[in-house]
Amino acid sequence: MRKLLLAPLLCSFMLLSAFLPLVGGLHAPLSVRQDFPLITSPASPIYLDSSATSQKPTFVVDKMREYELTTNSNVHRGAHKLSRDATDMYEAARDKLTTFINAPSRRGVVFTSGATHSLNLLAKTLATNLEDGDEIILSVMEHHSNIVPWQMLRDFGGVSVKIKWCNLDEEGGSLDYEHLATLVTPRTKVISIVHTSNTLGCTTDTKKIARIKAERAHPDCVYVVDGCQSLPHMPVDVQDMECDFYVASSHKMCGPTGVGLLWGREELLDSLNPFFGGGEMIDEVTTEGSTYAALPGKFEAGTPCISQAIGFGFAIDYLNSIGGMAKVHEYEKKLGSYLHEKLSAVEGVKIYGPSDPGERSALCAFSVDGIHVSDIASFLDMENVAVRAGHHCTQPLHTYLEISHTARASCYVYNDENDVDEFVNKLRETIDFFKSTGA
Ligand SMILES: Cc1ncc(COP(=O)(O)O)c(C=O)c1O
Repeated sequence: MRKLLLAPLLCSFMLLSAFLPLVGGLHAPLSVRQDFPLITSPASPIYLDSSATSQKPTFVVDKMREYELTTNSNVHRGAHKLSRDATDMYEAARDKLTTFINAPSRRGVVFTSGATHSLNLLAKTLATNLEDGDEIILSVMEHHSNIVPWQMLRDFGGVSVKIKWCNLDEEGGSLDYEHLATLVTPRTKVISIVHTSNTLGCTTDTKKIARIKAERAHPDCVYVVDGCQSLPHMPVDVQDMECDFYVASSHKMCGPTGVGLLWGREELLDSLNPFFGGGEMIDEVTTEGSTYAALPGKFEAGTPCISQAIGFGFAIDYLNSIGGMAKVHEYEKKLGSYLHEKLSAVEGVKIYGPSDPGERSALCAFSVDGIHVSDIASFLDMENVAVRAGHHCTQPLHTYLEISHTARASCYVYNDENDVDEFVNKLRETIDFFKSTGA
């Protein structure tokens, strides 16, 4: 009898819980903060600098420690058990990454030391595909890591190529696709454009870019996507994106520094010359010359970043364990809108990037009338709020927008609306202080 009475109650509770995330409104938290000790002690800062580097959950740190203390060995070269186990863990991390980005095969998934390494690898090795007069297309919002390697290719690559710059739309919020279409010609051999901008927070439409490439560029043109600020925050499917190469860094997505991703279409990676030479990347070495290992080993010369790659794999496990990237993305969209709304309401603040919060990631680069952003960031730091000030490695973008520096608040899975409120309150106090001193 009691059971009978309880049954409808239980049913309505279950129904309610199923719908809670939908009606729970604005900011149903991911509730993962406790996984990140660095930001949960009473003295911890309000950490709003995750676009620079994210915090790591205990899970990842513990797993890396466990690896170091129980399995540490070199990979691919030992007949002993430790080496076999380390190799298995290293290659398992590659498998996790392959699934995470929906790559067609693990052979196209290369571990590098970070996105910067990946982009340098591409610029250096793609040079052999270029001829005098060929064009490389970048956008004005690129991170320096997606600019300088191509300039080095132009300046030292032994080939006279031209770099062309795609502007932003009228609002200055995202890529101007019409301008891109006018820039791309049959001489265009590389288009390298950021997926989500680390300063504007906009996300580019990769299929649109791929279409422009297919319609207008040289048939051998490759499309490179800098995914540093997209892979940590949204589901990424490199096949669906229609790009040729995709790069990212582990340290922006709960993983360690010193490891990153280069994904490339297999036939393209196969056609490129190796980048670094040394152990691991060879098939056979004689005094006359060398032959090279099959993918992905061909691009992983020397002892690779073993524990970091394994840590990267555990970071992926962690992100999957908290609900996966669709949930992370949904949460961050809401938190990003909240950040944008609250910050927009502060007098004297100008936010860069799309005005439509729906088109933004969970970051805001901003300036404040009459106050230098370095002063803002230093004052916020004294109030235990960590934001970044500077050009965020996007100097050409700042020049384009006719500003020297911006401050940037960037969120991740462990932030919530209380962090945003605290940040905005402290920002208001900072502005009031400067106004009161007549600065
Ligand atoms: C958009 C973008 N591209 C490239 C990079 C470079 O990444 P890393 O320093 O990890 O190589 C960053 C890092 O801030 C970034 O935000």
